[in-house]
Amino acid sequence: MNTEIREEIFKQAKKWVLEAGETIRTKINEPYEIDVKSNANDLVTTLDKDTEFFFATNIKSVYPDHHLLSEEGYGEDLTTLDGTVWIIDPIDGTMNFVHQKKHFAISIGIYQDGIGEIGLIYDVMADVLYHAKKNEGAYKNNAKLAPLNQNLKFEEVIFGLNHFWLCENRLVDEHSMQKFVKKIRGARTYGSAALELAYVAEGIMDGYLSMSLSAWDVAAGIVIVNEVGGITSNIDGEQINMLKKNSILTCNAAIQRNIIDNYLIKKRK
Ligand code: IPD
Ligand code: CA
Ligand code: CA
Ligand code: CA
Repeated sequence: MNTEIREEIFKQAKKWVLEAGETIRTKINEPYEIDVKSNANDLVTTLDKDTEFFFATNIKSVYPDHHLLSEEGYGEDLTTLDGTVWIIDPIDGTMNFVHQKKHFAISIGIYQDGIGEIGLIYDVMADVLYHAKKNEGAYKNNAKLAPLNQNLKFEEVIFGLNHFWLCENRLVDEHSMQKFVKKIRGARTYGSAALELAYVAEGIMDGYLSMSLSAWDVAAGIVIVNEVGGITSNIDGEQINMLKKNSILTCNAAIQRNIIDNYLIKKRK
């Protein structure tokens, strides 16, 4: 993508993100409907849907030739990532939104022919915006984020993962994962994939591991993490396919191989 076009799209996206965040902050204490989706813990509120609708209508009117891949139904059923694609999670961390009224984010990745050009992750209640443009570095508000420390020692690692990895699960040997959390310095679970990726980019966590995430959970974070030298793959170390669900391992490159080879031991089928 041409840098001038990218700058123009970035400014527009940033304006919409801040505006959508302001609306959410205004409405968070007003009554809203909560529905369940695939199971009782999979929540969606009217604010998730209204926020996505806000982006969908704005994108359609200003950029009619751009595409939208998004969680709550206003996007398209894309079969390719050709062209300019906005990959949007209107509220990432809906459970936090409903139960805690904080620790959720608006996440927007903008991709050109499958390549991440722009990432925006807005922690709405903290009013903190993480952003990156390809080859232009990553920022937390206006402060440039430092490259990740590539001499990290495994014993000093703080890692984001949810508790399912430590319970019996279909993907990997839980005993190896229990060894992993004992070996590293600490584990954290924040409940928003987008924020957890932003924390990896900021260097306040050294990695994040999650099962079965969709493109909108990770599209922005991947762009931001890339800019500080972090890497994202599935748990086999392969590239993510944005058109389907993936397990995700995002981390400081210094520790990726050790985690895949020694702790993410796959279950035999
Ligand atoms: C969820 C959050 C959560 C992750 C789930 C996602 P949502 O997104 O990112 O941290 O563990 O897998 O679905 O549904 O709140 O947008
Ligand atoms: Ca959801
Ligand atoms: Ca999400
Ligand atoms: Ca969501």
